[in-house]
Amino acid sequence: MSGTCVIGLQWGDEAKGKLVDLLTAQFDMVVRYQGGANAGHTVVIGDQTYKLHHIPSGILNEGVMNLVTPGVVLNPPTLLKEIDSLLERGVNVSSNMIISERAHVVCPWHLAEDRLLNDTPAAGESIGTTLRGIGPCYRDKVGRTYAVRLGDLYRDNFPERVREIVEAKNRLLASLSDDSEVKLDHEEICREFAGYAERLKPFVGDTTTLLLDAAESGKRLLFEGAQGALLDIDHGTFPFVTSSNSSGVGVCAGSGVPPKWINKVIGVAKCYSTRVGGGPFPTELENETGQHIRDKGHEYGTTTGRPRRCGWFDAVAVRYTARLSGVDCLSMMMLDVLSELPEIQVCRAYEIDGVEVNTFPAHVEDLRRAKPILETLPGWQKEITEVRSYDDLPENAKGYLNRISELVGRPVGVVSVGPDRAQTMFPGTILSDMGVQV
Ligand code: GDP
Ligand code: IMO
Ligand code: MG
Repeated sequence: MSGTCVIGLQWGDEAKGKLVDLLTAQFDMVVRYQGGANAGHTVVIGDQTYKLHHIPSGILNEGVMNLVTPGVVLNPPTLLKEIDSLLERGVNVSSNMIISERAHVVCPWHLAEDRLLNDTPAAGESIGTTLRGIGPCYRDKVGRTYAVRLGDLYRDNFPERVREIVEAKNRLLASLSDDSEVKLDHEEICREFAGYAERLKPFVGDTTTLLLDAAESGKRLLFEGAQGALLDIDHGTFPFVTSSNSSGVGVCAGSGVPPKWINKVIGVAKCYSTRVGGGPFPTELENETGQHIRDKGHEYGTTTGRPRRCGWFDAVAVRYTARLSGVDCLSMMMLDVLSELPEIQVCRAYEIDGVEVNTFPAHVEDLRRAKPILETLPGWQKEITEVRSYDDLPENAKGYLNRISELVGRPVGVVSVGPDRAQTMFPGTILSDMGVQV
């Protein structure tokens, strides 16, 4: 069997959705294994744009099974809206998706906690979460006492359990806010959730057994990461991270597939950097060039609509995350966004307190002091969105990609010059040598 992973190597929104959709046809299953409605993955097919939050980006390929596995946190009303909107557009969700009964559920108290705690600074600055209740839900999962899993919604004791949790959560919410409106009503929540449970029932199953059966019988599995490796709870720019393992190390824990079945990793990166929310960003451009990248790349959040912070490509950060995620090749996205710039810069190292540093700092305060050491490369100043073959790209564009590849230490197997499936190139035989046909 072959287990291939698509992992974001920056701070999310690297265009993972586009790549997963492109590759899906060669796989039997597409698997989401962490994150939840904080993710916003865009797939563009002709004149149709789909924005997916919980549902794997494989769903748009008929005949491929899509699994939402235990490491994902589910928001039932958001998930149902996602399902309905796909059904309305004629996408076959009904027989192509299974959601794990082990997945944890984002409940109304998690949304309230996220809202009430969001302005509280972590390391001097607000994290700026997506307000989707992700952190509070994962906190309760690890804490166990107040956790709710999808399978719990179908148990007779669910109303009693909600009553107990709501009692405790109302005490917590009251301590965080003077507003009496934050008080939750357990009966109302139970009624609401009974409706969600009923509607989600056809999708609920044991994805762990299905995945293990598939792996053991030689099926081809594609794992779709959410967020990016720099947002990984253990290995990212803590505390300005999400609450799950969004680097390659999260695949096994979240999905329930043992490491021996994972053998290929494609790392997805933009040809520049973006970040939404708080936290250090050494190559950030708070100037006209940053605004130009934001405008040309439509760099506004898929989930929250927030403007994304933009900056140069950071090879120190991506070298770190490519190694951490075991990346075999890079998929370099949004090359077209840089087309008008006369010069493009790349960060090859940091200077911290007068010392050149080539490794990614563990502490957020060190990263805050890191000044990027930049190399300047010539731009190509020519639109490339119509280019379909790598050889036809301007020499300076190829030169830029080659330099990124050298600095990161990985070959470039995919180059994207626009959101559409057709706007994608596959240099050389890098991807096919990995056994991934395109
Ligand atoms: P994801 O979260 O990693 O799936 O990425 P998002 O969907 O949040 O953001 C990527 C955005 O860039 C989406 O709007 C895509 O349609 C778009 N996109 C994907 N590839 C390209 C590309 O090569 N060029 C441009 N200009 N846009 C792209
Ligand atoms: P995709 O899958 C970009 C960021 C938030 C915030 C931090 C914590 O589309 O790449 P959270 O709500 O998870 O507690 O927020 O993580 N963040 C993302 N940024 N893309 C995402 O997902 C993100 N998911 C979370 O902006 O800084
Ligand atoms: Mg996104």
